[in-house]
Amino acid sequence: MTATTGGGFVSLVGAGPGDPELLTVRAARRLEAADLVLYDALVPPEVVAAAPRAQRFRVGKRAGRKAVTQETIHRLLIRGARQGKRVVRLKCGDPFVLGRGGEEALALRAAGVPFEVVPGVTSVVAAPQAAGIPITHRGLATGFVAVSGHADASFRPIVESLAPNGVTVVVLMGLRARARVAATLLEAGWRRDTPAAIVLAASRPEMQQWIGRLDGLGDAPLESGDAPGTIVIGDVVGLGALARESRASETSAAQALGR
Ligand SMILES: C[S@@+](CC[C@H](N)C(=O)[O-])C[C@H]1O[C@@H](n2cnc3c(N)ncnc32)[C@H](O)[C@@H]1O
Repeated sequence: MTATTGGGFVSLVGAGPGDPELLTVRAARRLEAADLVLYDALVPPEVVAAAPRAQRFRVGKRAGRKAVTQETIHRLLIRGARQGKRVVRLKCGDPFVLGRGGEEALALRAAGVPFEVVPGVTSVVAAPQAAGIPITHRGLATGFVAVSGHADASFRPIVESLAPNGVTVVVLMGLRARARVAATLLEAGWRRDTPAAIVLAASRPEMQQWIGRLDGLGDAPLESGDAPGTIVIGDVVGLGALARESRASETSAAQALGR
């Protein structure tokens, strides 16, 4: 199909986990030049502010709440490009990781609209990193699995395909289902004392974390409000505690040195 966009163009841009400093250089450039930005609910205002001259609209939904439909988002992207605009579709993390970016790319391709995908720092790695957890660490885990926890039908088969305690499991969209997530792993033979973490609002000033054991994950107290959260399960989570200790000793060293 011919692209009749008069210079219009769509960038599907990964916004990263929320800290504006974790935008890629390319993402920041696309935002700076954008005429129209359609952004996800999880993208904080400080990141959206990187598009000072654009019209900006929040689309996309938070758990359990209605929002602009996916089809409407496709229509808005296509219409904006056909009006000759530089359109940015700003999605949290990476556009192609559990975020329907693929559907948006297919819709643009079907409409003959030129587009690009700008990768972003996914919360799959940013959330554990923010808690000091190296998701692969020699001797503890040689791989990781990233999975959506929100539907048992997609989560369970993946867990059942894994050797218990064989890899690090990173669960997005799993906060409300954390009791079921833990039960599924325990039923599959994972150790009850497997270290587990929940990282809320990773990379943002309001970040919080819980670190405990798999058999305590379901009862982990959360005052998350609306904050997005990522669950990390596996022996590498124990290293998060080491990172905290090292940060604490850096602080006391800095205090001792009067900095
Ligand atoms: C619809 S998924 C999109 C994932 C996104 N495309 C990515 O690559 O990170 C949204 C989920 O990402 C996770 N998430 C996004 N931002 C986060 C953050 N700052 N801290 C922790 N988890 C986050 C949460 O699990 C949230 O439910």
